[in-house]
Parts: sequence; C-alpha cells; structure tokens
Amino acid sequence: MKKVLIDVDTGIDDALALSYAVHSPELEILGVTTTFGNITVEEATRNTLQILELLGASQIPVFPGASRPLFRELKEKAKLFHGENGLGNIQLPPPRTAARREKASVYMIEQARLHPGEVTIITVGSLTNLATAIMAEPEMTKLVKRVIIMGGAVTVPGNRTPVAEANICADPEAADLVFRSGIPITVVGLDVTMQTLLTREHLETWRELGTDVSRSFAEMCQFYMDAYAKVGNVRGCGLHDPLAVGVAIDPSFVRTSPMYIAVDTSGGLSDARTIADRRSQPEFPPNADVCLEVDHAKFLAHFLQRVF
Ligand code: BDR
Ligand code: CA
Repeated sequence: MKKVLIDVDTGIDDALALSYAVHSPELEILGVTTTFGNITVEEATRNTLQILELLGASQIPVFPGASRPLFRELKEKAKLFHGENGLGNIQLPPPRTAARREKASVYMIEQARLHPGEVTIITVGSLTNLATAIMAEPEMTKLVKRVIIMGGAVTVPGNRTPVAEANICADPEAADLVFRSGIPITVVGLDVTMQTLLTREHLETWRELGTDVSRSFAEMCQFYMDAYAKVGNVRGCGLHDPLAVGVAIDPSFVRTSPMYIAVDTSGGLSDARTIADRRSQPEFPPNADVCLEVDHAKFLAHFLQRVF
C-alpha cells in the first residue's frame, strides 16, 4: 500500500477525489489536511469531515491548515463552481467527528519523519500547507517520496485568469516555494484534467444506483456541471482532483515529461502562471515531471468503477 496524505480545499471535485481514494485499496490514507481555495479553510475542514462521514470513513484523521496565503490577501471563494458552501449547496448533516488539533503542516512533517521516503503528498488545493512544512523543515524535500500537485496549466489556458490555474492562483508564492524546493514533483495540471470529463450520462447512472452517497454526489456534480456549462464547457466537468489521486494509484494513466516549471509571482497579468521551459535545449534543469498526456478512457473507467 502507498502511504498518502491528501491536502484538500473541499470543493466538489475534492469530494470526488476523497471518495475515489477511500475506495482504493492501493492507498493507505494517513490523513487529510485542509486548506483554503474553493472556500475558506473552516468550510474545507467541515466539508471534508462531512464527506468522510458520508463515505463511512470518519476514522481518517483531518487536520486543519492555513487560512490564508503566505503573503497575500485571501481571494474570493469559487462560488460559481462549488456553491456558497463548497459542495454545490447540497445539505449534509453536521459532522459528528471533530478535526484534530494538530496543524496540517505539523502533521505533514511528523508523517514524513515517521516514514522517510515513503509518503506521497497529493495536493489538490493551495500549496500553502506544503510550503509552510518545507519552510519549517527543509528536510521535507528529502523525506517525502513525491508530491503530486493538481495545479497549473502549461500548454492550455488557465481557469482562474487567462493563464493561471486556481490552485496556483490561490497562493502563488507558496507554489513558487514548492517548485523551487527540490522536492520530487508530478504536476497534474489542466493540460490533462480538462481531458477527463464527467458527463450528464454518468450522473444519471449515479442517480439510478440510488444510494445516499451516489445520489448526493450526483446532486453536487449537477451543480458543478451546470457551472461548467455557464462558462462554455457543455460537454461535462473536469475531474481535476480525482486525476491527481488516479496518478498516485496508477502512474500509467498519464505520460509525463521532465521540465523546469517557474511560477510567476509578478502580480501582473501573468501572475500565478506556471511557466515551463519547453525548448529543445532547456536552460534550466527539470524540477517536475509534468503530465501532458492522459489515457482518459482508462482513467475514467477506473474512477467510475471505484468512486462508489
Ligand atoms: C482546481 O481548483 C479547484 O477549484 C478544484 O477543486 C481543483 O482543485 C482546478 O483548477
Ligand atoms: Ca481542489
């Protein structure tokens, strides 16, 4: 089993990613850490606890993380895509379990020290918790096996600005720090996640399945899909965060290329862009393995089989 920590801003696709991970026997989930992004960190923590309870997985410990970016003001929530509450405004019972007292970044360090070279961190929200952990314990870059980052857009437009993807945009300085740190990184960006779409037909199947879980997820994803349609993506909604979990389970879903990635922190029009050196003779040594191709049919089949 692969030891993983999942860092989330739960969020509809984060919820799907959690369900996929919980139902994947290849993964040993050491804990879920929370951050801001789609919603505030308090809401992310509450949503994470609610989703884990819905999944019957409330034994997985949840650690609240950063409430704001390293150096900037907190940006607007992503209400259009995730609703006011982050879960497409569906109502789930208040969580019965509480989050742990330990901070997310502290728990990351503790687990990395406890299992040197064994822990994969899957980040599907802002990179603030990981950056905080690296600042507090620079050895994290050697202790952690790999970081799988859902974030960035190398060959395609952004989704928060014309060039920036939401998770990088949430805290560009944190992302910059992580990419400069030397920690082994796999980037699962919009380049591949916008090729793995969930469609309305899938939601019909979930409704027909008729369980509490499948119905709740169908309702959430209906909201997500309607939001995608409003911005012109009528074919379906991107399985961003689930693909990052998928890559942790089976790296053969994607093809990666080693590349140098820098994060623009200029504050200008290209702020939060992930800039890749894709020249035939790059000037800078690679700092990440970037997913540029995905076997979307293989991934989608696996995800759909596992998610409930
Ligand atoms: C990413 O941003 C968030 O809105 C999603 O949950 C996902 O992690 C996609 O850009
Ligand atoms: Ca997310």
